[in-house]
Amino acid sequence: MAIRLETAWDAPDVRKLLIAAFGRAAEAQLTDKLRESDAYVPQLCLVAEQSSVIVGHVMYTHITLESESNPAIQVLALAPVSVYPAFQGRGIGKALIAESLSRADARGEPMVVVLGHPEYFPRFGFVPASTLGIKPPWPVDPDAAFMVKTLSAYRDDMRGTVTYPPEFDEV
Ligand SMILES: CC(C)(COP(=O)(O)OP(=O)(O)OC[C@H]1O[C@@H](n2cnc3c(N)ncnc32)[C@H](O)[C@@H]1OP(=O)(O)O)[C@@H](O)C(=O)NCCC(=O)NCCS
Repeated sequence: MAIRLETAWDAPDVRKLLIAAFGRAAEAQLTDKLRESDAYVPQLCLVAEQSSVIVGHVMYTHITLESESNPAIQVLALAPVSVYPAFQGRGIGKALIAESLSRADARGEPMVVVLGHPEYFPRFGFVPASTLGIKPPWPVDPDAAFMVKTLSAYRDDMRGTVTYPPEFDEV
C-alpha cells in the first residue's frame, strides 16, 4: 500500500470510494465542494493506493475556533475519512490518519477536530473536545463523538466554539 497526496485527477475515484464507504452520496458531494472552497488544505489530503487503485482517502479543511476572550484562530477539521468496505480492517485508515496527523504537526497546526466514531479515533490521541473547552457549533450526541487531537503548537488557552465552512451545513 502506498500513501500520497490526492490530485485533481483523483476526484472521480475518490467520489466512488466515498459513496461505497458511506453508502450514500452526501460525503462525496461534500468532498467535491470542499475541494473548491478556501477551506481546503490540499497538503494534508491523502489517498491510499493498492496496485495503483485508490482504496482509501482522508480530507482536511480549515475551520475557525473562537470565543469571547480569544481571537479567532484556524484549526483543522478531519472529514471525511474512508476506506473501501472490502479493504477495511487492514490498517489503511490507521495509516492515512497517522500520516496526515504527522504532516499536520509538521505544518505547525495546533489541533485537529473530528466528528466521528468515539471507539475509533481515541487510538490516535483524540479526546472528547469538551474536556479541552472546545465546543461544536451544533448539538452532538454522544458528546464523545466530537473529538480533538492536540498537536505540538497547541496551547491550553485555545478554547471556544468551532465554526465549519457552509459546505458542511448540507450534510
Ligand atoms: C472508519 C474507517 C475509515 C476505518 O478504516 P479502516 O481501514 O477499516 O481502519 P483500520 O484498519 O485502521 O482500523 C480498524 C479498526 O477500526 C475499527 N472501526 C472501523 N469502523 C468503525 C466504526 N464505524 N466504529 C468504530 N470502530 C470502527 C474496527 O473495529 C477496527 O478496530 P480494531 O483495530 O480494534 O479491530 C473505515 O471503516 C470506513 O471507511 N468506514 C466508513 C466511513 C466512515 O464511517 N468514516 C469515518 C467517519 S468519521
